[in-house]
Amino acid sequence: MNVRNPDHPVQGVFVDRWSPRAFDGSEMPEADLKIILEAARWSPSAFNIQPWRFVYALRGDAHWQTLVDLLNPFNLDWAQHSSALVYLFSDTEVDGRNGKPNRASGTHSFDAGSAWAHAALQATALGYHTHAMAGILKDEIHDRLGVPARFKPEIAFSIGKRGDASQLDESLREREVPSTRLPLDKIAFAGTWS
Ligand SMILES: Cc1cc2nc3c(=O)[nH]c(=O)nc-3n(C[C@H](O)[C@H](O)[C@H](O)COP(=O)(O)O)c2cc1C
Repeated sequence: MNVRNPDHPVQGVFVDRWSPRAFDGSEMPEADLKIILEAARWSPSAFNIQPWRFVYALRGDAHWQTLVDLLNPFNLDWAQHSSALVYLFSDTEVDGRNGKPNRASGTHSFDAGSAWAHAALQATALGYHTHAMAGILKDEIHDRLGVPARFKPEIAFSIGKRGDASQLDESLREREVPSTRLPLDKIAFAGTWS
């Protein structure tokens, strides 16, 4: 059953993006990863601060295993079969207005989320799948990747081509389908909250 019939006619990329866990373990060209990160770069942010930062590795490169090992055990189990891993950070201190900490405006995480969405949609347009993961070893990332303390680890995301769901444990295999969404009239209200 196709649960991704939009109620209103959005561009296909919005419903085609979903987050599988079965990846095919192939390598991806760095040029494709750069296109995906370039899309993130063009995300909007408060005061155009652009607080997002990325640390990435491509499957098989010198940094790949380090980034795999910074996933929590649940995510590591399946995401190690993806083709690229990207860790997304937000800058908690830069403020484009007057040098005050960005904590004051508090939008660094929100802005980083917007960059993630750009990346995910661009990946979809290129024929890849992505999967965001909050389950990362946040206490170890700064040391292991040499990240300055002011940068907050937000998520990691995997990128790759879909693999066969039979490679997943039974519980995950059942969940390897696009999810649906709340109806628009449950989340968007005209004029007042109702
Ligand atoms: C910020 C964020 C954190 C997430 N963390 C994880 C995670 O640690 N592990 C996981 O398997 N999925 C994770 N997900 C995937 C979500 O469960 C998934 O996006 C959601 O169920 C909607 O499904 P869809 O992406 O297929 O549309 C995360 C997604 C987001 C946006």
